[in-house]
Amino acid sequence: MSSPIVEIEGDIDTDDVNPFTMILPQDGHDNDAIPQQQQQQLHFLQSINSNVVIRQLPSEGLSFQLWPAATILVTLLDNIRSGESTPFSELFKRQEKGDSLPLRILELGSGTGVVGIAAAAILGARVTVTDLPHVLPNIQFNVDANSQVLEQQSGGVDVAALSWGDNQHMEAVGRDYDLILGSDVVYHDHLYDPLIKTLRFFLLGGGKKIAFVMAHLRRWKKESVFFKRAKKLFDVQIIHTEPPPDGSRIGVVVYLFTGKRLPPREPL
Ligand SMILES: C[S@@+](CC[C@H](N)C(=O)[O-])C[C@H]1O[C@@H](n2cnc3c(N)ncnc32)[C@H](O)[C@@H]1O
Repeated sequence: MSSPIVEIEGDIDTDDVNPFTMILPQDGHDNDAIPQQQQQQLHFLQSINSNVVIRQLPSEGLSFQLWPAATILVTLLDNIRSGESTPFSELFKRQEKGDSLPLRILELGSGTGVVGIAAAAILGARVTVTDLPHVLPNIQFNVDANSQVLEQQSGGVDVAALSWGDNQHMEAVGRDYDLILGSDVVYHDHLYDPLIKTLRFFLLGGGKKIAFVMAHLRRWKKESVFFKRAKKLFDVQIIHTEPPPDGSRIGVVVYLFTGKRLPPREPL
């Protein structure tokens, strides 16, 4: 399941991708028969032998649906807790060392909140899940729906508004995190710069070295623009490549972003 860390070389976007068939999650199973207003989905987390339940509201828009990269990220977190050694698990060494403080995680563009909620339950972490203000009531609904498993696993989830690039929002959630997570947050090109500004705030703005782990399903060639811009500020590595699902040529890729070390200054 896991793959070694490899440096990204050059432009990663070379394939033709049909955006219209790939923009929405390809989830055609049990929920097909359920009216579109509301869908409940159970995610079994084998590492803690528990389910997380997530409400989707497809008629409300893309922010209220589960995207493919989210499921992959949840599975990777689950595998780490199950003891599988992956490049990803390096990020959780602090816990292995027996640090008594819970891991502090920030999630960007949480959508339904599944990644943040699952991370809190799997890792016993304190997670702040964020999105645009109008998305937050559904995330809070999902957090409340999982309060029992969160309590059992000593995990905690806070829900907060964070519109990318908004200084007030970023200051309000603070920089006190060990890790930042995001899934399927690179899609519209007008969001590339606000997202990079946000990553700059968290990865380059404080004294502490924080990593951003991003699960991403590529849909458009133009996404290479985001990666080119990001690589000017951050070291970007691939830490996992998921095999493409049946009928597709592209699978979810998980990236690790860390702040670039600036070259030492010339003596005056
Ligand atoms: C494609 S969805 C992915 C949702 C979720 N992470 C998942 O994988 O299921 C992108 C998410 O980014 C959020 N988003 C879009 N523009 C944003 C912005 N300017 N600031 C913060 N979040 C934004 C959307 O509301 C949405 O929840």
